[in-house]
Amino acid sequence: MKPKVYITRKIPNEALEKIKETCEVTMWNEEDQPVPREVLKKEIVDVDGIYCLLTESIDEELLSLAKNLKVISNMAVGYNNIDVQAATEKGVMVTNTPGVLTETTADLTFALLMATARRLIESSDYLRDGKWQTWSPMQLTGQDIYGATLGNIGLGRIGEAVARRANGFGMNVLYHNRSRKIEAEQEFDLTFVDKETLLKESDYVVVLTPYSPETHNLIDTLELELMKNTAVLINTSRGGIVNEDALYQALKEEKIWAAGLDVFEDEPVSLDHPLLTLPNVVVLPHIGSASKKTRTKMANMAAEHLLHALQGKKPTYLVNEIDIN
Ligand code: GLV
Ligand code: GLV
Repeated sequence: MKPKVYITRKIPNEALEKIKETCEVTMWNEEDQPVPREVLKKEIVDVDGIYCLLTESIDEELLSLAKNLKVISNMAVGYNNIDVQAATEKGVMVTNTPGVLTETTADLTFALLMATARRLIESSDYLRDGKWQTWSPMQLTGQDIYGATLGNIGLGRIGEAVARRANGFGMNVLYHNRSRKIEAEQEFDLTFVDKETLLKESDYVVVLTPYSPETHNLIDTLELELMKNTAVLINTSRGGIVNEDALYQALKEEKIWAAGLDVFEDEPVSLDHPLLTLPNVVVLPHIGSASKKTRTKMANMAAEHLLHALQGKKPTYLVNEIDIN
């Protein structure tokens, strides 16, 4: 009998066809609407595999309903949407898609940094809104990137790729991470510092650490107080790492200069969120890895992990320790 698989969103055809070759597939056939939880609760009961996105919370309650589940394949590098511990206790493999999205996400991080520093969105709106009357000395002036200090909070694959870009812009690069990365320090001329020093000295603080209970509100009122009043905060990781109320206050009181956010604690962010009222906040709808090539690679990689797990093989990127027999 073919293994049963539930796919929680319409995924690219290539990945879908691959899964269909050996599995009985049911798919939530929408592109712009996540699967309702009630549907997922029914579907999870007897499937062998779930292929999901970061929009699905695969928690303990949902996992307790699953009778045959062997694998949860997440089409994302971050997997804070999955209760990995509960999955591990049930012997369910959890996989993610690192590596393939590193450079694309670093590109977006840098694009957001530059857009925020040089007020690109605001400037474009200024022109389109008919406000451009003349060239003037201090009109729409922003912050320099070349020669500035960048502080990476977190130095995983994406953090290193951002550091490489920063090198090209003649930036001085600091980082803070759970462990020191001596090789990366040499390769990208990085300086390891404690969090306080990073916050005090950086012109750009870039949040690139995974989201977990330990990193929840890692950037809060105290951290924002330490930052320069000319500093820019960039977050392309997960919303909950930055306390949004504290960020709003810091921006409003001009304790920091601007913020660029690709992620929010609740997504999609509500249009009446206070942060959206501020001109010095650049916002994006969680598009860090959104290039055609990379999203296709992520979809295929997630399909491959799912199939390997169902064939009893160890998937390349297994995030929990499961006995495969
Ligand atoms: C996107 O945010 C991802 O985790 O892949
Ligand atoms: C993701 O790939 C990371 O390790 O930053």
